[in-house]
Amino acid sequence: MVAFMSEPIPAHHNDLDAILPAAFRLFSRGVADRRSAFHTPTIATIAHGLPALRTVVLRGFDPVLRTLTFHTDVRSAKVAALIANPMAALHAYDAGQKIQIRATGPVTLHEADDAADGAWERSSPPARRTYAILPAPGTAIASPADADLDGQDLAATRAVFRRADLTITHLEWLYLAATGHRRARFTWTDDALSSTWLVP
Ligand SMILES: Cc1cc2nc3c(=O)[nH]c(=O)nc-3n(C[C@H](O)[C@H](O)[C@H](O)COP(=O)(O)O)c2cc1C
Repeated sequence: MVAFMSEPIPAHHNDLDAILPAAFRLFSRGVADRRSAFHTPTIATIAHGLPALRTVVLRGFDPVLRTLTFHTDVRSAKVAALIANPMAALHAYDAGQKIQIRATGPVTLHEADDAADGAWERSSPPARRTYAILPAPGTAIASPADADLDGQDLAATRAVFRRADLTITHLEWLYLAATGHRRARFTWTDDALSSTWLVP
């Protein structure tokens, strides 16, 4: 594991009770700040026994419900994977803060409810345009220009838009420091939280 010549460990990194709020602040900042490493986490799913990873934009975080929100296209491979197996993991590493977070839990896909409608309403026109792409994402094409968005039917885009909410049931936090790495795990069982330090 990497060792760093750096400043002393911040006090809260020795305080198990303070780590979760700090981790949640990283998620909230990831939603609000495009420059945050947590703005573009990686989402892992499992399909046909194989893991698959991809970057998404973190669109929302609710610390009470413990949901991490991203937007996606129902025609994508990740949605097929989530329908077959809703368990997913999210990973992000902030190199400036030297903090890695891994969060795991089931993903709920919102199609036509208030949550999905609100997410669509708040989406920018350029973001909405990506859902107009034809044929479906992941389709093999002869030439890259075959899927250019010019002239495509933008009215069709809402139908393929999905809001995806990952409810965190496991969260692991890792802080790298020359003076001693710190690692902690948080687990929710029926909303009851248990937490522990781990050997880094
Ligand atoms: C910076 C960045 C942000 C991305 N954001 C999203 C996103 O919010 N939602 C999404 O579906 N795909 C997003 N993508 C594309 C995915 O990483 C992926 O290539 C695509 O969704 C197809 O994934 P799949 O075949 O596993 O479904 C993003 C890619 C990058 C590089």
